Amino acid sequence: MQDFEQEINVKGWVRTKRGSKNVAFIALNDGSTIKNLQLVVDLEKIAESELAFMHTGASISATGLLIPSAGSGQSVELTVHSIELLGAADPDEFPLQPKKHSLEFLREKAHLRFRTSTFSAVARLRHAMIFGVHKFFNDRGFYNIHSPIITASDAEGAGEMFQVTTLHLDNLPKNEEGKIDYKQDFFGKSSNLTVSGQLEAELAALALSKVYTFGPTFRAENSNTSRHLAEFWMIEPEVAFNDITDDMDLAEDMLKYLIQYALENCADDLEFLSKRLEEEEKNKKADEKSMELISKLKFVLENPFERITYTEAIDILKNSNHNKKGKFSYPIEVWGADLQSEHERYLVEKHFKRPVILTDYPKEIKAFYMKQNEDGRTVRAMDVLFPGIGEIIGGSQREEVYEKLLNRMNEMHIPMESMWWYLETRKFGTVPHAGFGLGFERLMLFVTGMGNIRDVIPFPRTPLNCEF
Ligand code: 4AD
Ligand code: MG
Repeated sequence: MQDFEQEINVKGWVRTKRGSKNVAFIALNDGSTIKNLQLVVDLEKIAESELAFMHTGASISATGLLIPSAGSGQSVELTVHSIELLGAADPDEFPLQPKKHSLEFLREKAHLRFRTSTFSAVARLRHAMIFGVHKFFNDRGFYNIHSPIITASDAEGAGEMFQVTTLHLDNLPKNEEGKIDYKQDFFGKSSNLTVSGQLEAELAALALSKVYTFGPTFRAENSNTSRHLAEFWMIEPEVAFNDITDDMDLAEDMLKYLIQYALENCADDLEFLSKRLEEEEKNKKADEKSMELISKLKFVLENPFERITYTEAIDILKNSNHNKKGKFSYPIEVWGADLQSEHERYLVEKHFKRPVILTDYPKEIKAFYMKQNEDGRTVRAMDVLFPGIGEIIGGSQREEVYEKLLNRMNEMHIPMESMWWYLETRKFGTVPHAGFGLGFERLMLFVTGMGNIRDVIPFPRTPLNCEF
């Protein structure tokens, strides 16, 4: 790797330039690692005027000898023989100065923020996690399925959908009833961007046994939180012959595998992000600080996730001092209440102090396709809750019995004309099966220690924000 004999050429972007009368030092980065390469320019051999435009942000090409570095902070450096400016960056205009910028400021400069240490580290980790996801499933005999992005079924009820149309909004065709005539729309019916690839993944699982999707999903919910995006990526495995316990085992295995993968493949970036987090939280009180990033990742690896039912969780929450002292914005009073992220985080961060898998939720607060339990009031749902995040995975065993599914669809007014095909799979060779959805950006939040979901996807889509 390191060739100390031959001349090499490097290209990249200048992070900093400093120097004295005789020598100039340029910290160069090409995005392949968090570590800059130090270029050492002997000003007796190369005229200082040649470096005139090589300010922070400029792109350059340099040729020279790689040598072990005498200075601290790097193991090698490049003794420059020749250097060339590729693209200047006017220091009066280039927004990224060699100092700390706030994450909010950098969000406004998303076209340039890859050039910072933080965002290049996040981008590399994101790549590693994408690769890790595919490796995990490929090694276990799963097939990747591309589920459609445009769909005519709003099966999930997971949130408001973005409509897709080629109709002209200022001149909408109407039918005899005076309603919009979707027969004239592109697909001959109303269509949307998908909120999940699950239903199609189920169709594939009922033939290929083990499949997963990894695609973009869209939710037009107006939630301006640090954990919601309007466009996010979801990983959805679906496995024939699996029950809810198998589903939980798969979820726990996958999360642990991915965390291990990050520790093994992204050590330098994690170390950098750990220091970043420490710096960001240096003014917080001790009990408000998060656990050191790498220790936190190892902690999750080494401890089994706590598995409890929704009913047990409600008991814990209802009887907690937190609840009694009125510290929840949504106090827990009755069985059946939907859990807010404050409740999920209480269970994980205060009560169990580790990831928790909640199962057997009331059927009223879950989707129609979840397998109904014998008690008549709960379904075989499972949500994985993580520290600092709340819900990272939502999944379930699916209802595979035709009549039960049909009844539930009728009860919940699921339109058959757009969902007949889903129901039909339960008529022809139905089998028990289960799956889940992992929000990829929520995983990225956990692994990078970043605090806002807008900072773990290159170009976030949130209400009133579709720049870049
Ligand atoms: O719990 P959800 O809505 O489940 C489904 O969509 C199922 N069809 C999954 C399945 O069983 N195949 O979403 C799954 C995960 C959540 O746990 C969360 O991590 C993430 O997707 N998620 C979001 N991430 C970012 N922004 C949003 N607006 C999100 N909504 C859900
Ligand atoms: Mg959910």
